[in-house]
Amino acid sequence: MIPVVTIDGPSGAGKGTIAQNVARELGWGLLDSGSLYRLTALACIQQTIDFEDLSAIELIARNLPVSFQSVPDGLKIFLNNEDVSDAIREETIGMAASKVAAMGGVRDALLERQRAFVSAPGLIADGRDMGTTVFPQAPLKIFMTASCEERAQRRYKQLKEKGISVSLAALVADLKARDEQDSNRPISPLRPADDAIMIDTSNMSIEQVTQKVLELVKQTFS
Ligand code: DC
Repeated sequence: MIPVVTIDGPSGAGKGTIAQNVARELGWGLLDSGSLYRLTALACIQQTIDFEDLSAIELIARNLPVSFQSVPDGLKIFLNNEDVSDAIREETIGMAASKVAAMGGVRDALLERQRAFVSAPGLIADGRDMGTTVFPQAPLKIFMTASCEERAQRRYKQLKEKGISVSLAALVADLKARDEQDSNRPISPLRPADDAIMIDTSNMSIEQVTQKVLELVKQTFS
């Protein structure tokens, strides 16, 4: 069986960076499942779809014209052949993604698309329900957390480096709202799988977390 490692956790816990590092280090594929919810949200906004129109949103999710392209420093994401790699990272799109992600029809529409990412030699899948719903049979499941303040600080630093100025208090409020929305929805809420290994990254460097996950991969698959 092709090995799958799931990494779930709240926004800003460092999942994306770690998943990317580990996938690169192992030469495995990467599924950034949040990007599919972000792309759905962006496509709805571009097509001025009403966020209450569940069937129209589900249709968008089912037919997303998306493609991914590996580049040396990560992944480029295209919607209708337009490079939206940066556009989908906006905070407003994150919030809208969290909203469409609460819709059962959207989650169903994206399920098989996510499972189709499994290919040799292995897959690192990053999201909220990778270990609980999408890949419940994965032999290694990680749940990554960090305090809300630490997550907001990291995001603040990232945005500042990009020349975007936001208030730290606004980021904390935004993260709390998104955690609340993702954890309390009835369908596939954010929660650790029963057999997940918890990693609190609050006081760990990116390098330390990457090494910790690589060790777990080695223990599990060799
Ligand atoms: O990981 P992210 O911030 O890119 O995800 C954006 C939103 O998508 C997040 O607030 C919740 C939703 N999401 C989800 O519900 N399930 C996933 N597997 C991944 C993301």
